[in-house]
Amino acid sequence: MKNEIIPFYYPSDKVIVKSKGCYQYDSEGKEYIDFESGVWCANLGHCNDRIAKIVEKQAKESVHHGYRFRNLFSEKLSAELQRLIGFRDGSSVFLSSGSEAVNLAITLSRNLTGRNKILKINNSYLSAYGFGRISKENESLVNIEFNNIDSIKSVDFNEISALVLETGGASMEMVRFPDSEFISQLIDSVKKNNCLVIAEEVTTGIGRLGKWFGFQHYDVMPDMVVTGKALGNGFPISALTISSALTEKFKQSPFVYAQSHQNDPFGCAIGLEVIKIIEETDLIATSNAVGTYFKKQLERVLNKHQDKVKEVRARGLMLALEFKDDFDGKKVSDSLFESGNVIGFKLNTLRFLPPLTIKASDIDKMIDKLNSLLTN
Ligand SMILES: Cc1ncc(COP(=O)(O)O)c(C=O)c1O
Repeated sequence: MKNEIIPFYYPSDKVIVKSKGCYQYDSEGKEYIDFESGVWCANLGHCNDRIAKIVEKQAKESVHHGYRFRNLFSEKLSAELQRLIGFRDGSSVFLSSGSEAVNLAITLSRNLTGRNKILKINNSYLSAYGFGRISKENESLVNIEFNNIDSIKSVDFNEISALVLETGGASMEMVRFPDSEFISQLIDSVKKNNCLVIAEEVTTGIGRLGKWFGFQHYDVMPDMVVTGKALGNGFPISALTISSALTEKFKQSPFVYAQSHQNDPFGCAIGLEVIKIIEETDLIATSNAVGTYFKKQLERVLNKHQDKVKEVRARGLMLALEFKDDFDGKKVSDSLFESGNVIGFKLNTLRFLPPLTIKASDIDKMIDKLNSLLTN
């Protein structure tokens, strides 16, 4: 069939017809192990049976409604997210994409503080548009250098409304985690100067880093938390959740933000089930154990092929293996894909964010192939 999709990015010519758990199947019946969880969304694995049941039920009962009504799915999901974050008496709004929720969080922080600028660590992604990396509005972004404590000292915090904090980047510099001391000094300056902290958990949240949220690896309590991606396990829902103090402040100076799918019951019912499944199956603990195993296996590859592999980086189930500069990692990446492994590749680095349900045996299969490609 002729491809009439605008090529904003360049996929292979493979056509996906089915996905289940950690596997995807193309139109020729070939199976792929998905080490990317789609675009880091399917933390429970693709087409989870319990989510499918909720989708079927919700599709028959209530998908969407207008501004005149509330629904209990959104209110329950707000309460659940607050419980997991550690907020009480705060509030949430549910939207469709991570980019949208990040941009709304920034707009809200500017309105609540009366300050204009946004602080971020230079390798953060933020969003596809608006305040994100390909935006013309970037003049309002102030960058500090990743893990460079000195760069914090050069910031004029009086003009900063909020720090947008990503505690693990999968895209820009391929899986890096800030040091505790750097984050501690950064948060110290931010709090002393009454700037807000927005935990940007679109990729790092919902168990990806071995805790519910990436910020929980540090001594920090944010004022706002943005979630997306895995909250819908592939269905597009995102959330902005704010503390009780900010909820009160917003009531004093509210503004209107209208979007057709805001707080839709359909996505919120899915989000509630995602949280329930993770808790009932103790998935964060088990995925952490699998993550430790995966890291060890990658470190074995590193030790075995020290002439080709530079470094392994990992936290929870976000992992990377970086090749040495003089080694052509692209060929290895292409061969891994050809042999049925969907793995991210950029900056001469392989990136792995598999479903939290990935089995050790699937990791082993990929590692065997990687070893054989590096041996030949
Ligand atoms: C850290 C981070 N923030 C925000 C986004 C944007 O989310 P979305 O693509 O759902 O708009 C992404 C997407 O990859 C991301 O990785």
